[in-house]
Amino acid sequence: MKLIDGKKTAAKIREEIKAEVAQIIDNNDSAPHLAAILVGDDPASDTYVSHKEKDCKSVGIISSVYRLGKHTTEKELLDTIDFINNDEEIHGLIVQLPLPDHIDMNRVISYIDPVKDVDGFHPLNIGKMTIGQSTYLPATPYGIMELLKRYEIDTSGKHCVILGRSNIVGTPMSILLSRKSDPGNATVTMCHSQTKNLKEITRSADIIIAAIGQPEFVTKDMVKKDAVIIDVGIHRIPSDKTKSGFRLIGDVKFDEVAKNASAITPVPGGVGPMTRVALLLNTLKAFKRTRGL
Ligand code: GUN
Repeated sequence: MKLIDGKKTAAKIREEIKAEVAQIIDNNDSAPHLAAILVGDDPASDTYVSHKEKDCKSVGIISSVYRLGKHTTEKELLDTIDFINNDEEIHGLIVQLPLPDHIDMNRVISYIDPVKDVDGFHPLNIGKMTIGQSTYLPATPYGIMELLKRYEIDTSGKHCVILGRSNIVGTPMSILLSRKSDPGNATVTMCHSQTKNLKEITRSADIIIAAIGQPEFVTKDMVKKDAVIIDVGIHRIPSDKTKSGFRLIGDVKFDEVAKNASAITPVPGGVGPMTRVALLLNTLKAFKRTRGL
């Protein structure tokens, strides 16, 4: 069994980005700049945005965070987006999700300038991804594609089963893996809450991408021998064995599934770090576009 080490791979990619940013600055250019908008005081969102700031700093990307109160109106948020859309010094823009209920998320995402949409959530960018044009890939699918590539996991002609159909993981993953590309060329089955005979389907999978958001959902009886397992889940559960009082587990029952798998991502240290670094890759790409690179 091969452990697919997202932490190590992400660290290597961060070094690659850092070197490229250093080169940009050496050439007397300004550094790439990512702006994040955070609306409200959701603690998890606050943590995610702090991670994004820290990640930017670690590679020399400038980051700005626009913190807006929870009673911010949709109009105020759209005005902030408009302001950033028009700021030539800012290359990438993300609006942290979820947004408060009184704000229409789809309207907000569509308002971001597609060339700055480094989350890859704008409908135009999703359309480009779907037909294979160059664009920003959503961070988690992008990170997974990089892992498959760097670990030389052959996807061509393989049966790839995706558990979960979210807009930001399952759906884009199904599109990327079925495209005529490498990684890609897979035969994809997308499973969701209404899927029947789930175990039958997962047992025929060469590759399983688990993104259902249910702790340890995938068990060894669902997996055929030598399958490749990519675990997107991340759940905090109480533990008396750790100092923090909790530990992280994924959508896959790691200990038992790993024994049967040919390769598997751990949680933590698998997909998570790759998702974080993918945003940096997209920000660098956004910067390079403005320089015609
Ligand atoms: N909330 C959870 N994941 C994401 C993400 O990838 N981008 C943004 N903007 N918000 C999120």
